[in-house]
Amino acid sequence: MTRRPVTDRLPAFPWDRLAPYKKIAADHPGGIVDLSVGTPVDPVPPGLRAALADAADSPGYPATWGTPALRASITGWLERRHGVRVTGEGVLPTVGSKELVAWLPTLLGLGPGDTVVHPELAYPTYDIGARLAGATPVAADGLTSLGPAPVRLVWVNSPSNPTGRVLGVAHLRKVVAWARERGAVVASDECYLDLGWEGEAPVSILHPDVSDGSHEGLLAVHSLSKRSNLAGYRAAFVAGDTALVQELLAVRKHAGMIVPAPVQAAMGAALDDEEHAAGQKERYRARRARLRAALTGAGWRIEHSQAGLYLWASHPDHDAWEAVEHLAGRGILVAPGEFYGPAGAGAVRVAFTATDERVDAAVARLGG
Ligand SMILES: Cc1ncc(COP(=O)(O)O)c(C=O)c1O
Repeated sequence: MTRRPVTDRLPAFPWDRLAPYKKIAADHPGGIVDLSVGTPVDPVPPGLRAALADAADSPGYPATWGTPALRASITGWLERRHGVRVTGEGVLPTVGSKELVAWLPTLLGLGPGDTVVHPELAYPTYDIGARLAGATPVAADGLTSLGPAPVRLVWVNSPSNPTGRVLGVAHLRKVVAWARERGAVVASDECYLDLGWEGEAPVSILHPDVSDGSHEGLLAVHSLSKRSNLAGYRAAFVAGDTALVQELLAVRKHAGMIVPAPVQAAMGAALDDEEHAAGQKERYRARRARLRAALTGAGWRIEHSQAGLYLWASHPDHDAWEAVEHLAGRGILVAPGEFYGPAGAGAVRVAFTATDERVDAAVARLGG
């Protein structure tokens, strides 16, 4: 019997379709302004580099659960910044959040016949994680429209990638109540929780206003990639239901899914310091404001985008791929909305993770 490769279960990598437009944008005499991916471009704050270097002499195996100091930094940050109280048993560092998103259904024991629900417009890895486990991914914003298949896991992502939409307390409470009635786990991807710009402030699924003080069945996924420019370090954590977190810990110990000790030290330093995060947020705020004004001035419509690192933009004269081509002709690369689901076909996602110099170039090319 020949085995089917795992890639047979996974979709084609959509970014290859953007390559011709990347080439067009790169040919611009002023160089490309790449706003297609949300990767940090500013330096790693010196204090975090120092914490990494100070822990460089780490010959022994690190603890999968994280050092007690790191766990204290995580619980302290959650309470201070987001009004969420968890004990050290309810937190677990992960190797960036993408690996947790991709493996969570497998780690929770989901498989064929189980349904994983994720937002209609979504970071693609929720779907991938379901497929890796052999479970069935379903894209649905309204839970009431779901059929009778047993839902084991529901992903929410507020603030959203790609739209920057924020789900309010009332919405999140409904998701939690729905999932609790059915025994489903709610996993809330909160990697942009600190990056609110306007309207209702983003709130964690673990906040007592949402959870009613019980974390049963709830997991919140956090990342330091954007807050602290640590995407290259792979630094994230999951927090919430103690029983679920301890189950994840037990499986991850067996599987060797461990955050390196120097990265654990850098993570702790990052969580203990708000100053660098506030400075980085202000950089993004300024870039967002300039790009937003330039896009609207050039006739683009911005929807949602109250939080996170993206502007969700559409233009009355172009469908999404035409819009990608139009902007590529001006040396600006953006991502077509359909990369995040069919509902995104009319829009493009514009990341504001570019240097001030590149943002200035984009603003000038959009007409001032
Ligand atoms: C919604 C969302 N979740 C998770 C991630 C993964 O981030 P990381 O693996 O760097 O923590 C990203 C990255 O852009 C994202 O947009």
